[in-house]
Amino acid sequence: MNYENILVEKENGISVITINRPTKLNALNKATIEELHNAFEAENNDKSTKVIIITGSGEKAFVAGADISEFANFSVDQGAELAAKGQELLFDFVQNLSTPVIAAVNGFALGGGLELAMAAHFRVASENAKMGLPEVTLGVIPGYGGTQRLPQLIGKGRAMEMIMTAGMIDAKTALNYGLVNHVVTQEELLNFAKDIAAKITKNSSVAIAKAIKVINDNYVDGVNGFQSEIKAFGESFGTADFKEGTTAFLEKRKAVFPGE
Ligand code: COA
Repeated sequence: MNYENILVEKENGISVITINRPTKLNALNKATIEELHNAFEAENNDKSTKVIIITGSGEKAFVAGADISEFANFSVDQGAELAAKGQELLFDFVQNLSTPVIAAVNGFALGGGLELAMAAHFRVASENAKMGLPEVTLGVIPGYGGTQRLPQLIGKGRAMEMIMTAGMIDAKTALNYGLVNHVVTQEELLNFAKDIAAKITKNSSVAIAKAIKVINDNYVDGVNGFQSEIKAFGESFGTADFKEGTTAFLEKRKAVFPGE
């Protein structure tokens, strides 16, 4: 598929989706959100794609937020629609993909940018990265899941402070808060993320998909994650990946998972 605002590259089961609007610091306009939805959906449906990395082009930004120029004149209804559509098409969509998504945060991750990174399954960042939810400086609140995912990841008090002050935290603080798992130099970032992805590609994609679902269930109202775990654990025993994984262990060889 041809995209105008993003790039998709694949190698060894790892797909890198790069948001490519560097002159606008990769701000998420409507067209970019739609293209990202299509690309994530296509990669998730492609059995040969085992891990997706999302990053931003250029040295300055991962994503500097939703595109402010697009919503400056919106009404109350249009505002609600913007958040609902964005969450459905991109943020909830990414969180609930069965293919692992790693955010490689290569610079500013602000507003919708941090929200996108938080919707990914985990994050790695470059030393120059800066993260924040500055929406209240514009008279709005985060609308792409930021008020929910930030407290889940760093705790309520820290999230309250970040959102109220609209302040940016640096990569070291993000690491200390547990918002990102690793910090490396900007030059190393993509290869570092690919190295983690390569480890993931060796494991059972079926089991990983079940693990993502069950971990996410911990945050779904009215769903008992422990019960989800029991069910998914049991289902694993009926998969070809389980047969191969256990057989390979007993035969003292490396498993080659069929992904079924
Ligand atoms: N929406 C639309 N355009 C944006 C944008 C956004 N969220 N963030 C950056 N841009 C655009 C700028 O308007 C500018 O475009 P121009 O060259 O056509 O004027 C270009 O990207 C470069 O940004 P600039 O502000 O000149 O870079 P800077 O280095 O001086 O500042 C930031 C970098 C990230 C601090 C600053 O761009 C910023 O505060 N952006 C908005 C962040 C925000 O509030 N995000 C939440 C949105 S809900």
